Amino acid sequence: MFDSMKEGNAYRCLINGRWVSGRQPPIEVIQPADKRVLGTVPALSKEEVDEAFAAAKEAQKQWAETPVSERSALLHEASYLLEERAEEIADVLSREISKDYASSLSEVKRTADFIRFTADEGKHLAGRTVGADSFPGFHKRRFSIVTRVPLGVVLAISPFNYPVNLSASKIAPALVAGNSVILKPPTSGAISALHLAAVFSEAGLPAGVLNTVTGRGSEIGDYLVTHPMVDFISFTGSTAVGKRIARQVGMVPLLLELGGKDAAIVLEDADLDDAAKDIVSGAYSYSGQRCTAVKRVLVVESVADALVEKLKERVLALKTGMPHEKVQITPLISDQAADYVQELIDDALAKGAKLVCGNRREGNLLWPTLFDFVTTDMRLAWEEPFGPVLPVIRIQDAEEGIEIANRSEYGLQAAVFTKNIDLAFSIAERLEVGTVHINNKTERGPDHFPFLGVKSSGMGTQGIRYSIEAMSRPKVVVVNLEP
Ligand code: NAP
Ligand code: G3P
Repeated sequence: MFDSMKEGNAYRCLINGRWVSGRQPPIEVIQPADKRVLGTVPALSKEEVDEAFAAAKEAQKQWAETPVSERSALLHEASYLLEERAEEIADVLSREISKDYASSLSEVKRTADFIRFTADEGKHLAGRTVGADSFPGFHKRRFSIVTRVPLGVVLAISPFNYPVNLSASKIAPALVAGNSVILKPPTSGAISALHLAAVFSEAGLPAGVLNTVTGRGSEIGDYLVTHPMVDFISFTGSTAVGKRIARQVGMVPLLLELGGKDAAIVLEDADLDDAAKDIVSGAYSYSGQRCTAVKRVLVVESVADALVEKLKERVLALKTGMPHEKVQITPLISDQAADYVQELIDDALAKGAKLVCGNRREGNLLWPTLFDFVTTDMRLAWEEPFGPVLPVIRIQDAEEGIEIANRSEYGLQAAVFTKNIDLAFSIAERLEVGTVHINNKTERGPDHFPFLGVKSSGMGTQGIRYSIEAMSRPKVVVVNLEP
């Protein structure tokens, strides 16, 4: 056990307040952009996972008794330290997941804001009293006092594309509600997440309240999610893994944020310049590796030519290169990810889609690609590329747009571009998604908004207050006075 997070570029896991190296050979974390080794992280064994859970279980008892004002103050300190180290951590994050540096720095700063907002929100986690006499047959000298209490040990599993923000979006609400946390970060992103854990540790978090478990999800994932000491699981990642977890966990409460295929519906009266700006930003930021990315455009035929021209102009203006350069399009997280995107591109071409621009590849670097005349027999119309490719599907009217949007297995977000606000609301009401943006790209922020997916996009609701409530429960004490 050590007091430091790493030795050279060999990173350790935080367990029970100390940094441990792990007893098995470590995992190399490879930089996607140049295939160099950024560092190593432990591949923890089941015995080490058990040690982490035992520490979390024990530490949670005292942490739950800690006044929420003190829990909140500690989160504020963590937010301050994270902001102080934003540039250092952003540099690591940018190398580790091939996210352009500007977006990496934005992720870290956004996370500091997230933690600070959560610290304040957690102090308002009030309960309520309920009088019995509002129900027939009961007198008013009987009432219940309802408070909210933590669930216990929260297992937080985060995805590669936001390894700092989407780890903190689980850790902070869990901690402020009085839970302890086991964080399983993505293997590609683990080093960035360990830097986040170090910030919480140095902010003064008591030993065992936050523990990190690194290792390939395919190897230790099942053991983690079925561990007997898990009281809640907050998972963000692919639909396939989310469904696998859901099949295993029985009575353990679960929050799932999964895949998406967000549609941007563009109607005849839309401001096409604004729509094109938002759609391109929404589709190609971080090379399309966002669950809330715009992943299909459903545009009415009458304005489709004009919109596609505007989209093309903006896509061609995107800069492609390495994460440390001032670019928007960077190498994808892995060669396998790039292969999958290329498969969808090739399928669309083979079935007659019109390539407007792109379809250029060097290793795992794919140039931004735009297709027109995509039809519903093509895989790109339905599958989540998680890469810089956008299909334009032409529709006759809003009705057809709603039907195609709802036919997707996913239901994360959607966007509607029109000047007719009444029509926008009526379309929004009929779209089977968690969130509809009117005249804006699809996106999760601001982070205190509720954020949820339906159908294959998830279960439960995130968003700061919603996450705190999800990781706590009512405790009811009924007072029976003499009538
Ligand atoms: P992923 O492959 O599902 O991995 C997500 C996390 O789960 C990683 O920490 C991974 O560990 C772990 N994991 C893998 N197999 C597991 C198992 N059997 N049991 C438990 N954990 C397991 O997803 P990703 O590639 O990191 O992220 C991309 C996907 O996540 C996309 O589909 C995207 O849409 C979705 N996503 C959704 C949201 C949202 O808020 N809705 C946000 C971001 C991403 P390893 O890294 O070690 O495999
Ligand atoms: O895919 C990560 C999801 O949380 C998207 O966040 O803010 O880029 O829409 P955002």
